[in-house]
Amino acid sequence: MRGWMKQAAAFVALLVLLLLAASAPAETEAVDVLDSDLPLLVNKDNPVSEDFMPADLVVLNDVMDSKLVKIKYKNTQANRTAAEALTAMLEAARADGVTKWQVSAAYRSFQDQEKMLEKKISYYRNKNSGWSRSRARSAALRTVAEPGCSEHHTGLAIDINVPGASAFKGTKQCKWLHKHCWEYGFILRYPEGKEAITGYSAEAWHIRYVGVEHALIMRDTGLCLEEYLQGIEDGTIDPPDMILVEEVPEDGGEKN
Ligand code: DAL
Ligand code: ZN
Repeated sequence: MRGWMKQAAAFVALLVLLLLAASAPAETEAVDVLDSDLPLLVNKDNPVSEDFMPADLVVLNDVMDSKLVKIKYKNTQANRTAAEALTAMLEAARADGVTKWQVSAAYRSFQDQEKMLEKKISYYRNKNSGWSRSRARSAALRTVAEPGCSEHHTGLAIDINVPGASAFKGTKQCKWLHKHCWEYGFILRYPEGKEAITGYSAEAWHIRYVGVEHALIMRDTGLCLEEYLQGIEDGTIDPPDMILVEEVPEDGGEKN
């Protein structure tokens, strides 16, 4: 190949590489969902973006004892700290004689949520002939969040129930969970009586990891997450004493 041809080929190759680099999707940084002093709020008014990716996800089947809990779908992931709290909680339940637990959902991607919502819309349209898509969608959105608006995107929400049981509410596992989940840092995210505030029908099975300090205040005040965060903002609720990290002086604090 002649010299000028080699140069032209190299130039074209460089151009192609530059174009490929420019069209590649920007790498999004995984978000530490437990980074803030206050629990992360994800709801209809506070969505996450389509490329939101939580950091620190673990595969539940890799980190949890299969004798303690059945993971319904084998690759289910959750936040590592939430998974550790779940293990501690289910070990305590076992010590109280309450066994047979199942995790039916934890982390969900934007696309998983989209599929779930579509499935629910189809369910309503098949069940009610004559329902428009928009009517079925409104009904579906009472129990399934729009993609971006589900806190399952954070890996901090866990759906827990009893394997093989048709309903969770009323089971001894449900009663134990509702009494004790707070002690392990979980809240009942969609409680009865708060539907107008959370925007969803009550869900006895959906727990959300917020850490023990926040969970205990929410248990004791009876506030749902939206009310609790609003109360802190208004100054009507005192947040738990946050751990104050004292700055260490450059000399290491030594006095000569
Ligand atoms: N079922 C809850 C609201 C969700 O879809 O995240
Ligand atoms: Zn859920």
